[in-house]
Amino acid sequence: MRFPVESLPKLQLCGQSLQSKFRVVPEDRAITSHLSIPSSYTPPEEDKTVLRIWGKQPLQGQVKISGAKNSALVIMAGTLLCADDCRIRNVPDLVDVSRMGEILAALGVTVHRHGDALEVNASHIGQSKAPYELVSQLRASFFVIGPLLARLGVARVPLPGGCAIGARPVDLHVRGLQAMGADVQIEHGTVHAYLKGGRQRLQGARIYLDCPSVGATETLMMAATLAEGETILENAAQEPEVVDLANFCRAMGARIRGAGTNTIVISGVPRLHSTDYSIIPDRIEAGTFLVAGAITRSEISLAPVIPEHLAAVIAKLRSIGAEIHADAPNRLRIVPGQRHVATDIKTLPYPGFPTDMQAQFMALLTLSEGNSVITETVFENRLRHVAELNRMGADITVKGNLAIVRGVPMLSGAPVVATDLRASAALVLAGLAADGVTTIQSLQHLERGYENLEGKLRGLGAQLGRFDGETDLPIAAPSSVTV
Ligand code: UD1
Repeated sequence: MRFPVESLPKLQLCGQSLQSKFRVVPEDRAITSHLSIPSSYTPPEEDKTVLRIWGKQPLQGQVKISGAKNSALVIMAGTLLCADDCRIRNVPDLVDVSRMGEILAALGVTVHRHGDALEVNASHIGQSKAPYELVSQLRASFFVIGPLLARLGVARVPLPGGCAIGARPVDLHVRGLQAMGADVQIEHGTVHAYLKGGRQRLQGARIYLDCPSVGATETLMMAATLAEGETILENAAQEPEVVDLANFCRAMGARIRGAGTNTIVISGVPRLHSTDYSIIPDRIEAGTFLVAGAITRSEISLAPVIPEHLAAVIAKLRSIGAEIHADAPNRLRIVPGQRHVATDIKTLPYPGFPTDMQAQFMALLTLSEGNSVITETVFENRLRHVAELNRMGADITVKGNLAIVRGVPMLSGAPVVATDLRASAALVLAGLAADGVTTIQSLQHLERGYENLEGKLRGLGAQLGRFDGETDLPIAAPSSVTV
């Protein structure tokens, strides 16, 4: 059954109201039919909304940490493995989650949101090809290739392309699927993967990943759940979101052991079954709020959190002089400590210091006494926020993948441009601590990954709001990005 595009509910994307061009996921509304994908795609107009922050307001209070974005995205892809209903709870309301919902919908899956839960039914996957317009906007959507291939024996997913932080190739995903017996060709920018020689299932294999890629580990783990025999992933990623995905797959009946170590063993099963699963709290959102407490010298309490997921971030915060207390097993509190001093940071795969916290920490180190060296080893182009922080009075020099941060006594508010998701968060943090007003452009990055960041900060006492960049009139933040 086809719906005309005009009849679809409005979709809130990038702070603008767009007409959804794919099957949408309205609040409390069942979606049961497959929509056709329109032939023409009109990119959203450039959004002129800015976020204005009046700095130096003391913060205080409690923050509720949302579900992990990166778990939600890959677990949504993982629902393709199962022909029964799946419920995923604690799913954050984010633009990226909406986009993943649209991709599932374009493949023929029904997705229905009730509050923070998604109900997904992938019993009828009517399409093996993910639409380029959506995949190009959300790199994580490439991860559908593993479950699609495992379930249908064929998958066609456009190459996601580079993004603001680097080229981000998918060679490890492709080579792993080939090792499992898939024929994988790249034609006209699309990865075509098929089962060879009339086979019904992928074959278990021993796969060594050249680097512990989170996405490749997840793609191959999902593919292996339905393969024939045993798959061993060596040098696998150990991130908590990989473990969360493994737990979700196990809850559907998959046989996986070793997730959270560098060797994951998956014994394939013929089919997976329905489940009801709640995803872990977002360690990067929690880390961002800890830095908000540190940079504004405020007392902030966060829950729910899994403190061990934040071990590297907590250790670094303590090493600069911040005080952090674990008040309960799932609650952390940061209190204003002594003066902050410099420290060096090197981003690494988990359990090392996360690249997704590098920009936020850099904002904090700009105001810490002494010289800090930040080494970004995971992505090749993830220091673009340096120029923007320097506009606010920071003293940072970049040499290749190193940033040398010389602590300054104060930052001053300035107009700045957000260059990627975590860079946006860093600018918000810098704005909270800066003297005067900071105006941030390109808010679409922020909306991808932080659920109600402005509302949560306002609840702590921050003064910030959205304004029309052209008329300077105040505008309401999107209360929800649910599609
Ligand atoms: C995931 C996270 C992202 C985080 C990153 C590293 C999601 C949706 N995103 O991204 O927030 O910053 O992990 O913790 O979970 N690489 C290759 N070939 C490949 C795959 C990766 O060379 O086939 C390289 C990448 O270019 C990068 C490094 O491996 O330099 C790590 O990337 P990866 O761990 O795959 O990141 P993502 O899964 O894309």
